[in-house]
Amino acid sequence: MLSSPCRLWLLAVTLSLAPGAQPLAPQDSKEEEENETLRPPLPAVPCDYDPCRHLQVPCQELQWAGPTACLCPGLSSPAQPPEPPRLGEVRPEAEEGRAVVHWCAPFSPVHQYRLLLWEGSGDPQEGTPLNSTVRRAELKGLKAGGSYVICVVAANDAGESRVPEAGGEGLEQGSQPSFGPCGRFIMPPRPRTLIHAALWVGTALVLISCSALVWHFCLRQRWGCPRRRAI
Ligand SMILES: *[C@@H]1O[C@H](CO)[C@@H](O)[C@H](O)[C@H]1NC(C)=O
Repeated sequence: MLSSPCRLWLLAVTLSLAPGAQPLAPQDSKEEEENETLRPPLPAVPCDYDPCRHLQVPCQELQWAGPTACLCPGLSSPAQPPEPPRLGEVRPEAEEGRAVVHWCAPFSPVHQYRLLLWEGSGDPQEGTPLNSTVRRAELKGLKAGGSYVICVVAANDAGESRVPEAGGEGLEQGSQPSFGPCGRFIMPPRPRTLIHAALWVGTALVLISCSALVWHFCLRQRWGCPRRRAI
């Protein structure tokens, strides 16, 4: 699964070496130019770019920001819709009725992301568009114990990334970790509900025990035992 981004990265590193070297050559004086030709090319460093990091600036903006240029992973053509993003961790927060969704950017130019949320069957709810630096979003108003399917869609001028057939239904059997743009998650019951249930069961048990004791010591003595003595 990791092989294709890695391959893209390697490809980018090899492809970027040549164009990356050109602007590094100082053009201030002839002396420096001579030195530059004698020196071996600077070691090329990959940019501090993590496709999964929240609020990550696009690599192309980092490339020329520092004193020396760095290398960016290769991207698919801007004339094509982006590859699907990869869904990461989905962390349900039962008490608040929400879930925090993480994802990783595809190796494609992306202008914005959108989240699609299916609850059962039917049409998905669509989230507001998020800018291309965003990798984390919050889903609100989720029902405790509810089962949901979430998909992340990336878009650029050429179109939108693919979503698996029928969104949620396509995932019906797949509870294995997926490397695609979609995932299924279940909201756990609210802890408060569990505590209330436990308190009710506890109270009921105490009441039953009390009535058993009351019956045993008082009522039986008053009606049960005298009758037995009378016999
Ligand atoms: C993208 O959205 C995030 C979260 O809403 C915001 O913090 C950030 O400033 C935005 N970035 C740009 C470049 O608009």
